[in-house]
Amino acid sequence: MKILQITDTHVGRPGHVGYGLDPRARLEACVADINAHHADAALCLVTGDLVNDGSDAEYENIAPVLRALRVPVRVLAGNHDSRDGLRRFFPETPLDENGFLQSAIELPHGRIILLDTMVPGAASGALCDLRLDWLSRTLAARDDTVCLFMHHPPLALGIEYMDRIGLAGNERFWAVLKPFRQRIALIAFGHVHRPVSGLWNGIAFAGTPSTVQQVALELGPQPELHLNFNHEPPCYAILDISGAGVIVHQQRYTHNWDVLPRLGPLSRTAVSA
Ligand SMILES: [Fe+2]
Ligand SMILES: [Fe+2]
Repeated sequence: MKILQITDTHVGRPGHVGYGLDPRARLEACVADINAHHADAALCLVTGDLVNDGSDAEYENIAPVLRALRVPVRVLAGNHDSRDGLRRFFPETPLDENGFLQSAIELPHGRIILLDTMVPGAASGALCDLRLDWLSRTLAARDDTVCLFMHHPPLALGIEYMDRIGLAGNERFWAVLKPFRQRIALIAFGHVHRPVSGLWNGIAFAGTPSTVQQVALELGPQPELHLNFNHEPPCYAILDISGAGVIVHQQRYTHNWDVLPRLGPLSRTAVSA
């Protein structure tokens, strides 16, 4: 089953340009690429920071672009979003019993769990007792395989500024996951504006780049805390979820896809091996 992830679209008001980029045009190109190549996906998850200031004017600008996707869409909250705005412009977004934008979606091979790590007014995220309790109960409700989606990375990735605005108190999140570790196939997130993947506490994770500006890769301690952006390529992710596991592809949709001329015939040995 094919599931898509778009993240950190940062669409502003009409005409907005940020870091020399037009976020709405970038998202339109992303939607066109998905419609051309991955319209068979079951779902597209937009993992937060849809807009910049959470105003209605921004959601009015992004909503029709996402509605043009030929794939059903579900949105998650990022630090630049407004829960109220997300719910009004994407009314199909489910809430948990406490009003957070958290839900579980059943697939043929398990479930996808969407988490709400937003803390209004803060760049960092958190999962309070209510949200962690919901997660624990949701994981315990079935003996199946799950993929978790969230905006904030639940671990320090080595880029100090981003690490300081990640998921605060993430040790409590990992403690909730621990009894279910064998059944969690992947934690997918945004916020980091970079491609990153690995294994943490025995669970695979993957961060997908933004559709607009990316965070420069500056690893290690920062004597003066700072954050630099650049024009590395934008991506969306294609997740192939099956009974055997999950495979994550990242598509650089603004890149030149032209197929190069072959240098010679393909090796028959390699094909039949
Ligand atoms: Fe972002
Ligand atoms: Fe963010």
